[in-house]
Amino acid sequence: MPVWMLLTALLLALPAYALSPVAARHGMVASSEPLASQAGVEILQAGGNAVDAAVAVGFVLAVTFPQAGNLGGGGFMLIRMANGDAVVVDYREQAPAAASRTMYQDAQGNLIPDATSAGARAAGIPGTAMGLALAEEKYGKLGLKRVMAPAIRLAREGFPVSYSLAQALHSERARLEKYDDSRRIFLHDGHLYEPGATFLQPELARTLAEIAQRGPRAFYRGVGTKAFEATMRKYNGLISRQDLKQYQAKLRPPLVGRFRGYDILSVPPPSSGGTMLIEMLNVLEPLDLGTPNSYASIHLIAETMRRAYADRATYLGDADFVSVPVAGLTSPRYAARLREAILQSSPDAPVRAGEPQAFESGATTHFSVVDAEGNAVANTYTLNGWFGCGVTVEGAGFLLNNEMDDFAAKPGQPNMFGLVQGEANAIAPHKRPLSSMTPTIVTRDGKVRLVLGSPGGGTIINIVLQVLLNVLIYKMDILQAVTSPRFHDQWMPDYLTLERVGFSSDTLENLQQAGYPLSFRDSLGDCEAIEIDPASGWRFGASDPRADGKAVGY
Ligand code: GLY
Repeated sequence: MPVWMLLTALLLALPAYALSPVAARHGMVASSEPLASQAGVEILQAGGNAVDAAVAVGFVLAVTFPQAGNLGGGGFMLIRMANGDAVVVDYREQAPAAASRTMYQDAQGNLIPDATSAGARAAGIPGTAMGLALAEEKYGKLGLKRVMAPAIRLAREGFPVSYSLAQALHSERARLEKYDDSRRIFLHDGHLYEPGATFLQPELARTLAEIAQRGPRAFYRGVGTKAFEATMRKYNGLISRQDLKQYQAKLRPPLVGRFRGYDILSVPPPSSGGTMLIEMLNVLEPLDLGTPNSYASIHLIAETMRRAYADRATYLGDADFVSVPVAGLTSPRYAARLREAILQSSPDAPVRAGEPQAFESGATTHFSVVDAEGNAVANTYTLNGWFGCGVTVEGAGFLLNNEMDDFAAKPGQPNMFGLVQGEANAIAPHKRPLSSMTPTIVTRDGKVRLVLGSPGGGTIINIVLQVLLNVLIYKMDILQAVTSPRFHDQWMPDYLTLERVGFSSDTLENLQQAGYPLSFRDSLGDCEAIEIDPASGWRFGASDPRADGKAVGY
C-alpha cells in the first residue's frame, strides 16, 4: 500500500488524541528500524550512555537496514553531554585522490547519465567505521567491543526480514544484480527474500568483529583494504589504499543559533544543514506564523526556504576547501534583510542568493538517543541513494555509498535530488561533498528539550525546520509535530512540493492563486525525534509514521 494511503487510513481511523508518543522515564531511542532501537535501549540498560547506545544503533542499522544504515557511507553525529559539552563528529565521505572536477562529464562537457550514482566510481571514501569508533572512544563508556555486540550477533545469527526491507530489496533488484556480492548477499542469489525470512550476513559479521577487535584500523589499514582494492579493480572504482589510510573523522564545534528563547545546536559544513536551519529560523523568529499549514504560514515559510536554498546553492561547500560565509548566513542582521525582501515580494518574483559576506562575524537515516543522565545524540548517516551505488565490497559484506552525487558534478546542473549547486561544491581530491544532513538538538536553560533529524536528501533541512516549528511555535506534542503534513521548497526547480495528504483544498487553491507552481509527493522524510518534558523529565519518543521505525524507551 503506498505511504499516502496508509497515512490517510491512519488519520481517518484515529481521532488525533489517540496518537501518543512513546513515553519513558529514563532513556529513549528513536530510529528507522525497530531492532536497532531495541539494541540501543539494551545498551542503555547495560549501563551505557547515549553515545554508547548511538554507536550501537549505528552499527546495527548497518546490518538490519542496509538501504541506508552502513559501514560504507558517512554522516554526522551531534553529541551533547549533560554537562553542556557539545561536539559534532564529522564522518562525511571524501572524494578519492584520483577524483577530478570534470570526472562525470563527457568530452563535450555534458554530464554522463547515472555516472555519479551507480557503480564503484560513484563512491566516496567511507567514514562510518572511523566516525562511530571516534565517538565511542571520546564519549562512550562501554568500549567498542560491547557496543558492537548486538550488530555482530544480528549479522551472524540473522534477523527476520521486515516487509519494508523485502520491498526495498525487490524494488532495487535491477541495480543490485549487476554486482556479484550484491546479488549473492542482498538478492539471495536471485531467490529474493520475502518478509519473515532470516537474513544472515556472515561476511559482514566478520568485518564487524574485526572492527570491534582491532578498531577502525581493521577497516582503513588492515585486511579491509585488500577487499576494497579488489572491488575497486573489478568495478573500475577510484578509492585506493592510500585514500583509506589518510581518512580522518573530524571533531567540529556545533553551530549554535537562538530561536524564541531556545538554543538550536546543529552541524556545520560540510553539511549545509545547520547553517540553513539557523538562517531560516532567524528569518522566521519575529513573524506571526498563524495556524499550521494555513496559506499564510506556508507562504512565509516557503519564501524563507527558497532564499536559504538559493544561498545554499551559491555559498555552501566543504569549508576545509572553500571559504563559506557561515557567520554571515546565520547572522540575525542578514536574516532581517531577507525577511524584509520576503515581506515586500510576491511568490512569482525571482529569487537569487543574497550577500551574506557583509554580515560575516537518496537514502539517509537518522536516529536520536537520550539517556537517563540527559546526554543526547542526534545522528544522521547515509549511503546517499537507497543501497548506495549498488556495489558490495567483495568478501566484506557491506555496500558502498554513491555520495559523489552530492558534489556539483557540473556546477549549475541539478544532482539526483534536483539540487542546483555551485562552484563552492565542485569536486576536488579529498574534498567532502556538501550534505543536507541536519541532526539537531534543542536546549533551553541548559537542558536538552528536543533531539531530531531526518533522511530526505535535499528536503532534510526543511523537514527538521517544520518539526521544530511545530513544537516550538505551534506547541504540538512530538508525535503530532512529526506526523503533521510537510512541504518543501528548494528554490530550484522552482516549485513548492507538498505531501499529497493533509493540506486543505482551500490552502492549495490559495497557494496556486498566489503564483506557486505546486508539485506533490506521497511523503517527505522519516523524522526520528525525542522530546524531554522540562517539568517531569519524562522522555517522549516519536518515530515517523511515514516509515517503519520505532521509538523504544525504558
Ligand atoms: N546524501 C544526502 C546528504 O548528505 O544530503
